[in-house]
Amino acid sequence: MEWCLVAFLLVVVYLVTQGLRLLFAETDLVLQWCELFGNSPASLSEKVVWITGASSGLGEALSYELAEAGCCLVLSARRQERLNDVKACCIERSRMKADKILVLPLDMLAFDTHKQAVETVLKYFKKIDILINNAGRSQRALWERTSLNTDQEMLKLNVLGPLSLTKAVLPHMLDRRVGHIVCTSSVAGKFGAPGLGSYSCSKHALHGAFNCLRNETHDRNIHVTMVVAGPFFSEALIHAFTESTEKNLGLEMKPGEKRMHTKHFAHHMVVAIANKLDEVWISMHPELAFVYINQYFPAIAQRLAAIVARKRLQKIREGKTDLHS
Ligand SMILES: NC(=O)c1ccc[n+]([C@@H]2O[C@H](COP(=O)([O-])OP(=O)(O)OC[C@H]3O[C@@H](n4cnc5c(N)ncnc54)[C@H](OP(=O)(O)O)[C@@H]3O)[C@@H](O)[C@H]2O)c1
Repeated sequence: MEWCLVAFLLVVVYLVTQGLRLLFAETDLVLQWCELFGNSPASLSEKVVWITGASSGLGEALSYELAEAGCCLVLSARRQERLNDVKACCIERSRMKADKILVLPLDMLAFDTHKQAVETVLKYFKKIDILINNAGRSQRALWERTSLNTDQEMLKLNVLGPLSLTKAVLPHMLDRRVGHIVCTSSVAGKFGAPGLGSYSCSKHALHGAFNCLRNETHDRNIHVTMVVAGPFFSEALIHAFTESTEKNLGLEMKPGEKRMHTKHFAHHMVVAIANKLDEVWISMHPELAFVYINQYFPAIAQRLAAIVARKRLQKIREGKTDLHS
């Protein structure tokens, strides 16, 4: 009887502790644990890391974190001047040698150039340890008004782009029997986020494709990390699609908005990479809490999502708010 009581109290203490940890968390509990007791970013020193979307936002912040960890970097995006600036900042901040960073302009939509890009990296660094599929665009529009063309363009950039580049890199990783593919996904990749139809669709697809890759290649030492991201500061809303591909959202994020600081986010993400976690959730509340509810109590999450969506859409129809927030 006494043992039952002790066991019961231990369970209660455990649940309360986990609840408190979660209350103040901005990552899932496993990642929190790794930040305290797992591999540090320095364990990635001398790894060759290829970052797409390195010219702004998260990709830029990741470049600085990984440079400080002592990695060799390949920086890719379309805007070469911005990439050169990021390279200069990496060198200044971490006092690394210039030849440890390769600026490689790349359009994620130019699929036929991806194999050549891989060859360029291999010629320069002789190996690729980690590919971070981070380049992407967001979207704000009602589902019913979104053109099929917008869906197609979103899927091309956010899904086929990463697939194409990963397929080009994978043979090298499989030959070496070492490799790590990382994808920046979103909380909108875990449930149907109202007002982000094409985007939500693209991030869900990313999980399907890369979870499958993980299961097929795990026994050949290829790791896949899916990063489920909540809101953080970047240029995402400037370049976001709307209901048509002809008009971008063109909205700057304001400093007071409830979003995670990008440097902070990048640090969490690098810890997740250093610990080769399969999937991590990095977000402030309420999004983080919602992802937890969605994972463990999907029926409740579905009801909550429907209520939030109904209220939000009602406000939009009454003109009291828009889809940009
Ligand atoms: N910001 C958020 O709140 C948030 C939340 C969840 C997930 N995410 C995800 O985080 C990732 C990074 O986005 P961000 O928020 O940091 O936005 P961002 O500042 O707009 O960065 C997007 C990056 O993608 C690159 N890119 C866009 N189209 C490209 C193309 N066709 N080819 C090559 N590169 C291209 C851009 O570079 P160029 O224009 O120079 O090519 C830029 O470097 C995205 O996958 C996004 O979906 C963001």
